[in-house]
Amino acid sequence: MSSTHLSSSSAGEPPRIVVLGSLNMDIVLRVPHAPAAGETLLGRSVAHIPGGKGANQAVSCAREGGRVAMIGCVGNDAHGRALREALTQDGIDTTSLRTDGAEPTGTALILVEDGGQNRIVIVPGANAQVEIDEAALRQQLQGAAFLVTQFETPMDQVAGAISVAHDAGCKVLLNPSPVQPIAEPLWPCIDTLVVNEIEAHALCGQAADSPQEAALAGQALRAKGVARVVVTLGARGAVAIDADGARHHPAPKVKAVDTTAAGDTFLGALAVALSEGQSFDEAVRLGIRAAALCIQQPGAQPSIPQRDAVLHSPMPPDWIAL
Ligand code: RIB
Repeated sequence: MSSTHLSSSSAGEPPRIVVLGSLNMDIVLRVPHAPAAGETLLGRSVAHIPGGKGANQAVSCAREGGRVAMIGCVGNDAHGRALREALTQDGIDTTSLRTDGAEPTGTALILVEDGGQNRIVIVPGANAQVEIDEAALRQQLQGAAFLVTQFETPMDQVAGAISVAHDAGCKVLLNPSPVQPIAEPLWPCIDTLVVNEIEAHALCGQAADSPQEAALAGQALRAKGVARVVVTLGARGAVAIDADGARHHPAPKVKAVDTTAAGDTFLGALAVALSEGQSFDEAVRLGIRAAALCIQQPGAQPSIPQRDAVLHSPMPPDWIAL
């Protein structure tokens, strides 16, 4: 751990977290089921809701008590202004959120079925215009506990930012979604990798559908150079893998209304808890409780809980060593 990490947590101040990522306006259609090819379906409702993996993760970090700065890009349009305003309302620093004059704000079309499962199509728009200013980023990462990022912004920019963070001694928490191959030199620059079953399989070639399989996939991912891995398993919770082995953390049983942003909520709670010095297992447990609250509410950012609500939510069952 670098001295900057020690100083940020030992001062008792909220941990500083820098998020590089996407902002999307989610167009959410509630549907009885996903339409088949050629089928026309009557939807139940339509709503425009602030989303995007990067912005959702920033909001989750902020609602967990982190001091958050967001790096990203929106279009010069009403959606872009609404997304910026949503972050500001959560106290997130948007100084490094650029407005692009040519591309529209990113859009996600989300179909939510009655059971809460979703299907998402993203049109990146301005998210594809994100460009890292390496010197400014290095400055911004001074004293930050984590750089949090995903793959909804250009891969070369994400890779560059990860390298800068690593060189600056700032830990990297990566959620490689939507999944793409990760270049070999980048793996050792990642402190914590959070993947779902599909992403784990794509990155290491091993199935991760059960907790036991996820443990093996997590070890395979660690062998590439990452310190810690979390494989999220939806209603079955998550598996935490580090140098001490693998533990299955079951999720509390709740009725899912909409699973959108559950992973983002988990990740924000995990990032802040780790930044506060909580153990890996306690941080995963907090993330699972936060995600369980998230899926009981519709939409992305409106469903992300505050830390107080998470602390008052039911405890999940104890974890199981694998
Ligand atoms: O993780 C959920 C998010 O994925 C949605 O808010 C949508 O915008 C897509 O980025």
